Amino acid sequence: MALHDRVRDALSRAAIRTHLRAPDKRRTTQDDLVRWAREHLAGRRLVIVSNRQPYSHVHTEAGVRVLRNAGGLTVALDALARTLGGVWVAHGSGDADRDVSDARGCVACPPGRPAYTLRRIWLGPDDQAHYYAGLSNSALWPLCHIVFVRPRFHADDWASYEQVNRRFADAVLDEVGDDPAVVFLQDYHLARVARYLRDSGRDLRIAQFWHIPWPNAEIFRILPWRNEVLDGLLANDLVGFHTRRHAHNFLDAVNDALEARVDLAAGSVDRGGHRAWIGDFPIGVDAEEIGALAEMPHTTAAERRLRFEHGLEGVRVGIGVDRMDYTKGIPERLEALEVMLERHPEWLGKFAFVQIAVPTRVEIEEYRAVRDRTREAAERINRRFPRAGGPTVVLIERNLDFGELVPWYRTADVCAVTSLHDGMNLVAKEYVAACTDLEGALVLSPYTGAAHELERAFVASPFDRDGMAEAYHQALAEAPAFRRARMEALRESVLRRNVYDWAIQVLDALVGAGLRTPLAIAPEESGR
Ligand code: F6P
Repeated sequence: MALHDRVRDALSRAAIRTHLRAPDKRRTTQDDLVRWAREHLAGRRLVIVSNRQPYSHVHTEAGVRVLRNAGGLTVALDALARTLGGVWVAHGSGDADRDVSDARGCVACPPGRPAYTLRRIWLGPDDQAHYYAGLSNSALWPLCHIVFVRPRFHADDWASYEQVNRRFADAVLDEVGDDPAVVFLQDYHLARVARYLRDSGRDLRIAQFWHIPWPNAEIFRILPWRNEVLDGLLANDLVGFHTRRHAHNFLDAVNDALEARVDLAAGSVDRGGHRAWIGDFPIGVDAEEIGALAEMPHTTAAERRLRFEHGLEGVRVGIGVDRMDYTKGIPERLEALEVMLERHPEWLGKFAFVQIAVPTRVEIEEYRAVRDRTREAAERINRRFPRAGGPTVVLIERNLDFGELVPWYRTADVCAVTSLHDGMNLVAKEYVAACTDLEGALVLSPYTGAAHELERAFVASPFDRDGMAEAYHQALAEAPAFRRARMEALRESVLRRNVYDWAIQVLDALVGAGLRTPLAIAPEESGR
């Protein structure tokens, strides 16, 4: 890019940043993102890449149905894709996906209101066993979450991981052809993709977001393929994390494992004639959309139906919404609930807890173990503390569409997010976004990225059962005026730091990375 273009670009981006930060303009909107994209993405297609897809097509007795994946990340990125258009490459995991996609695996999304193309990648049982259940979720997942589940490293899993990553990269290259594009990679399933893209020599700006924690260097160095993972990630122009600590851990890991010039203060790594920028960008949700959904008449009707079906009329309701994952602290949260009922019998019969636990990764032993522990805890509590209207713990183990989740958020007087270790945790933010009437409270683990922002939550460690039991009690017992003030403060934060704000911060840093990086870094300086 010519110097005067770079200067003009930098000035206009600075103007947008100032506009977004102005005191009278505290909330970034979808329109801000559109405006930003028009100015800065002109001529470049956006390609989002993730393992999990935003929409699945499934066969039901009534024909093919579309499910909007309820995972916080896919819901948040869907807002971005709907706003900016482009292509989203992801694994087609629905049993009717092939029937509705074209020969290249493409289908318009969202179904019924097309705004972007979803390009599906097909993975076979071996890919699922080695790339997904193996390397991604039995090696990287426990390695990055410090929850004392020992990671398993198998050479077959690594080979499959590299091969599937190459297929994701090939799909991106096939989509973009020779056109300039911005590629936005998501997460730990795809650590090698940027390397394949970079080596293709195409005109690509590439960013990757690591949505889970990054462990300290001592832990990371046990990964047999640490150099390959770091090499893949450093092929990006930008690597993002939710917290500063995770970004620092990543830079430490690079320092520890590779020959590279690491600038801890600036957050950059020079290696092999390429500079990668590393930063922290806490993700948000589309709080306006969730709030609007929460106030729809059909949501209110669904809430009434749920209360009736589960015998929750006239009782205070707690809720937990998670994949059934050992990092989420689900049994720990139920055990704390049991302690609360022991210590505060005034809640007996007047409180029920709904745990929505989406089945996940059941092929892995530790996931079946946490499911069994959760079921046992729920059954024990229901035996010990029966309730007239229905069970004290309602355990719902199925995959919910996002639209089904919102009425549950509305039903809850308190939401428990009790992860043992987590990247951000978007359930916490979705719940707050849905509490437009301010009638709710959040009990939040300090080991989530969300705890750095949601300061008015009731903070409770999942490793301290008694403390968490007290936090539940306080959340339920707090006087209405204080509860509402607390929720108002939480909402302000979630509305302000929303997904559009996050997208602009990340994409702006990506575009700016080109401006802040010397056009060529002398190879002898980089020491690859
Ligand atoms: O939390 C990070 C994340 O990658 C999210 O995208 C998602 O919720 C989850 O982990 C992955 O879940 P799954 O294995 O079901 O796609």
